[in-house]
Amino acid sequence: ETYDASGKVVAPGFIDLHTHLREPGLEAKEDIVSGTMAAAHGGITRIACMPNTNPVIDTSIVVSGIKKRAAEEGYVHVEVIGAITKGEKGKELSEMGDMAMRGAMAFSDDGHFVEDPLMMLKAARYVNSFDKALIVHAIEEHMNHSGYMHEGAVSARLGVPGIPSIAEDMAVARDAIIAEYTGTHVHIAHIASKGAVDIVRQAKKRGVPITCEVTVHHLTLTDEACASFSTATRVSPPLRSRDHVEALRDALKDGTIDAIVTDHAPHAPEEKDVEFRNAPNGFCGLETSVGVILTELYHTGLFTINEIVDKMSCRPAELFHLDGGTLREGSSANITILDLDKDWVVDSSKFYTRGKVTPFNGKHCKGQAAATMVDGVFVMKDGVVCKK
Ligand code: DOR
Ligand code: ZN
Ligand code: ZN
Repeated sequence: ETYDASGKVVAPGFIDLHTHLREPGLEAKEDIVSGTMAAAHGGITRIACMPNTNPVIDTSIVVSGIKKRAAEEGYVHVEVIGAITKGEKGKELSEMGDMAMRGAMAFSDDGHFVEDPLMMLKAARYVNSFDKALIVHAIEEHMNHSGYMHEGAVSARLGVPGIPSIAEDMAVARDAIIAEYTGTHVHIAHIASKGAVDIVRQAKKRGVPITCEVTVHHLTLTDEACASFSTATRVSPPLRSRDHVEALRDALKDGTIDAIVTDHAPHAPEEKDVEFRNAPNGFCGLETSVGVILTELYHTGLFTINEIVDKMSCRPAELFHLDGGTLREGSSANITILDLDKDWVVDSSKFYTRGKVTPFNGKHCKGQAAATMVDGVFVMKDGVVCKK
């Protein structure tokens, strides 16, 4: 099988550390087939799926089930992130050791905020005992008590109740302290506030084993987008003001932020077809991430292509000891081929994901994934997904 890559960039396969695949239980939003097709379409060869499914990914049976389904039906590699607690609002730690044995990549508080700091400490010690990482994710429930968007000048102008960004700072401060005390690798999911970024920067300087990721939308959109009251702008953490976006870009540049992720969070289109205040948080991201990042961060001259490949492939692989991130001799070929100059317009009706809602719909982009190869076989060529 051949592909003429002349004039294109051949990169190690892109990895998305933060995807909501929705299977098991929420297949009207997405399933393993539609989600991995969307990844292939977007130029992503490996995704890590979050545990806020139904049932929650809190037992080794669910981990094995997803791994098996993904191996049989998936278009790209799927890593599984287990829940640290049992059930959605679990007060008890889950069987993380069993899940690790079944190949869970890491463990997360995704889906709900663990109120009790001592429970978080216990979870950190537990995952450290078998050398895994804790992905601290669910600041959102903690935050969403108070409002529907970032608290600031725009929320005041629109008269929408806001969520203070220090809610995020406080959660990250707690988890940085836990990382420092236990020596557990703590990875902060979708960091979005300047205060949180400063906490991670200072902690890294002291040698704390803390890493973090930022989403495509937090790097490229501000809370001004919410002025449309489009439910496509409702997300957690919320889109923040320009000063936060600038701080995130600076932190990506200086290495405080390790990875760019999608937080692909599909909802069935009708679930988003409601009033702004009633809309579920999140939108699809797997099929827009490469285009939006190349347009906003590469073609603007802010980042080099090597820096972008580092944040979307090499560092994610390194953080979680995943195969990929390099084109080593003898490693299986997981490759993303980029057409840096491709002009295209986002049209979510052409997406493979079931969650068609995106704040980038209609956006003019420059740069796109031209082909995706998984284990030596093309799963996408020129925008068309093909079975591996
Ligand atoms: O907006 C979001 N929605 N953020 C998340 O991290 C969770 C996600 C979801 O599961 O829908
Ligand atoms: Zn989240
Ligand atoms: Zn998420």
